[in-house]
Amino acid sequence: MKISILLLAVVLNSNAWAAGIIGDTVFPYEVTAEDEALASLAMGPFADAQNAQAVATYDPFHSTTYFSGQPKTIAFASCNFQRLSQDHFKVIASMKPDVWVWLGDIIYADILPMNLRRGEYRHVKMATGYQQLRKESVILGVWDDHDYGYNNVGEDFKDKKESQRLILDFLDEPAASPRRTQEGIYWTYRFGPADQQVRIVLLDLRYFREVAGPDHDLLGAEQWKFLEDELVQGAQPALTIIGSSTQFLPTEHNGDRWDQYPRARQRLLNLVSNLPEKVIFLSGDVHFGEVSRSEGLARGKIIEEVTASGLTHAGLGAHSSVNRLRVGNAVQRNHFGVIQMDWARAQPQPSYEIRSVDGSVLESGRFFAN
Ligand SMILES: [Fe+2]
Repeated sequence: MKISILLLAVVLNSNAWAAGIIGDTVFPYEVTAEDEALASLAMGPFADAQNAQAVATYDPFHSTTYFSGQPKTIAFASCNFQRLSQDHFKVIASMKPDVWVWLGDIIYADILPMNLRRGEYRHVKMATGYQQLRKESVILGVWDDHDYGYNNVGEDFKDKKESQRLILDFLDEPAASPRRTQEGIYWTYRFGPADQQVRIVLLDLRYFREVAGPDHDLLGAEQWKFLEDELVQGAQPALTIIGSSTQFLPTEHNGDRWDQYPRARQRLLNLVSNLPEKVIFLSGDVHFGEVSRSEGLARGKIIEEVTASGLTHAGLGAHSSVNRLRVGNAVQRNHFGVIQMDWARAQPQPSYEIRSVDGSVLESGRFFAN
């Protein structure tokens, strides 16, 4: 995606360096000896509270099931420049979300060689607030372009296998997880008892991404098979949440979006419109926040999408001006998203919030409100 910050200067300890996030370009980094030392440290997996409250199992559908109670709070975000303050995680951790979902750009590492990227992830992972969050929440995540490789890159990224290892280390993916050996980091997670399950499907929009085009593909054959197996044959949950690093519903801006791949987008729309349960998309990438609501799909199905993009540098999105599907206002302050689930009724009642990184609610509402 394109982002337009002319120049962002930060001071790292005694070493002043500038990170320019300019159009389609990259970060002029000055990597110090300290950064190289950070990169050489092991990052995970770790044995503290992550997932300790839940027993996870793998099944043939490339999914993990957590049998603990239904999640009440699912928080999510993207676009986190690792060299800026990470104190937003103190606020997020204080909300004690059951699940935290990364939607990409966990770090910006565009021009860095692979051997230095581990250190960049450590800026996030070792932050006090993030360590608190790891203890409070099950951490899930996928990448977008800047943590996967560099701006807008897809299937051609030559270091994608190593990049996969790095992000899975960051995410504390267990050594035995099939996600360690498959190509790409797509996966499904299920939470809660069988009759009140929330399914979170995380898509990998980078590993197999072709260049944009009407008949071109975003997911690749293996991932489509996984997705179709999961959505067609998987046990029906009470709610399905699909995490997609780039926006699915909006069609009018000119940044990365599913609409650049109309055949692939229609294929996913067809799958989703056949699901009996409600479907929510989560997305990132554009450096602002918003909620979008589809027009009626097949059989009148409505899907909604919450975009939370900009933990550290929102308000810089060039794509925020138009979206006829938007509900409420675009959020230009640094923010994260929250889904709250009310399980008191027979059908779960999900609601959303887009919260400033100081915790204040900027946008909120009920999903599928009428
Ligand atoms: Fe980003």
